[in-house]
Amino acid sequence: MYRVYVTRRIPEEGLKMLQRLCQVEVWEGDVPPPREVLMEKVEEVDGLVSLLSDRIDGQVLSRARNLKVVANYAVGYDNIDLLEAEKRGVVVTNTPGILTETTADLTWALLLAAGRRIVEADTFTRKGQWKSWGPRLLLGQDIHGSNLGIVGLGRIGAAVARRAQGFAMNVLYYNRTSRPDYEEELGVQRVELEELLQVSDFVSIHVPLTEDTHHLLGKKELDLMKPSAVLVNTARGEIVDEEALIQSLQEKKLFAAGLDVFAREPIDEDHPLLQMEQVVVLPHIGSASFRTRARMAQVACENLLAVLEGKNPPNPVSR
Ligand code: DGY
Repeated sequence: MYRVYVTRRIPEEGLKMLQRLCQVEVWEGDVPPPREVLMEKVEEVDGLVSLLSDRIDGQVLSRARNLKVVANYAVGYDNIDLLEAEKRGVVVTNTPGILTETTADLTWALLLAAGRRIVEADTFTRKGQWKSWGPRLLLGQDIHGSNLGIVGLGRIGAAVARRAQGFAMNVLYYNRTSRPDYEEELGVQRVELEELLQVSDFVSIHVPLTEDTHHLLGKKELDLMKPSAVLVNTARGEIVDEEALIQSLQEKKLFAAGLDVFAREPIDEDHPLLQMEQVVVLPHIGSASFRTRARMAQVACENLLAVLEGKNPPNPVSR
C-alpha cells in the first residue's frame, strides 16, 4: 500500500479517495507541520499533499527516499522548489481551473469593499459614529464606467474582466503575450504595464509569483498610479513591494487597497497595513468556498493517485 502524508485536514472528498488505496496520515494542526515533522514524513512516504503554506524546498526534498509526487492543494506552486523536485524525479501537480470563479468573486468583493469603503463604513456604523446623513460622509470611488487594469490575463484575470462587463467598465490588460481570444470575447485591450498603471482606476493583480514577477509593482510602478486608484491583490503578496505600497498609501498617492495576500503570511498583528483604514485585509481566502475547496481536494488527490499508479497526472507543473 502506498504511504501518503497530507499536511492539513483537507475536505473529506479528497481524503476518501486516498484512503481507498493508500495508508494516509494527516497533520491535524491548524498551522503547518513543523519542518522537522515534514522532513521526517517526506522520508517515509510515496506521496505528499501539500498546502501553499508548506515550503517544499531542497532541504525537505533531499530527505525523500520513495517520494514520487507532491500534489499541491493550490493553483500557485511558488512554495515548491521545482528544480529540486525535477532533479529527484518527483512530479509536482497543482489544482488549476477549479478555483478561477471563486477567486474572481473574492477579487470583486475586495474591489467593491476598498473602492466604496465598505469595511470602514461598517465599523463606523457599529461604533455609533453615525450622527446624520452627510453630503461628504464616507465618499468612495465609482466602480461603474471606470477603468479596470488587469495585470496578468490568465484564467482568473479573465474571470475578473468578465464580471467587469456588468459594471460597464473599460478593461485594459497587461500580459506577457497577447490574448486575442479574450480581446474578442471581453473587449479588453492590451497595453504596457506603465500605461495600465497610469490610466486605471482599479488595478487587479493576477500573475503567478515567479522571479520575473517578484516586486513587479515597486515604488516606480506604484508612483505611476492615480491618487484616486485602488489596488487589489488576490495573487501573491510578493508581487507588490509591500514597503513601497505602505508608503504610497501613507502619502495618499493611492486611494485604497484590497489585499488577500501578503509578503509574509500570516501578517503580523502590528503590521502597518493593518493600521490603515483605507486597506481591506483578508487572510488569503481567495478560493475559500465549500464547493471549490472540496473540488480542489478531489483534484489534488486525483493528481497524486495518478502518479502513484504510474499514469500521467491531469495537472503536472514544470518550470
Ligand atoms: C492558490 O490556490 O494558489 C490560491 O492562492 C488559494 O487561494
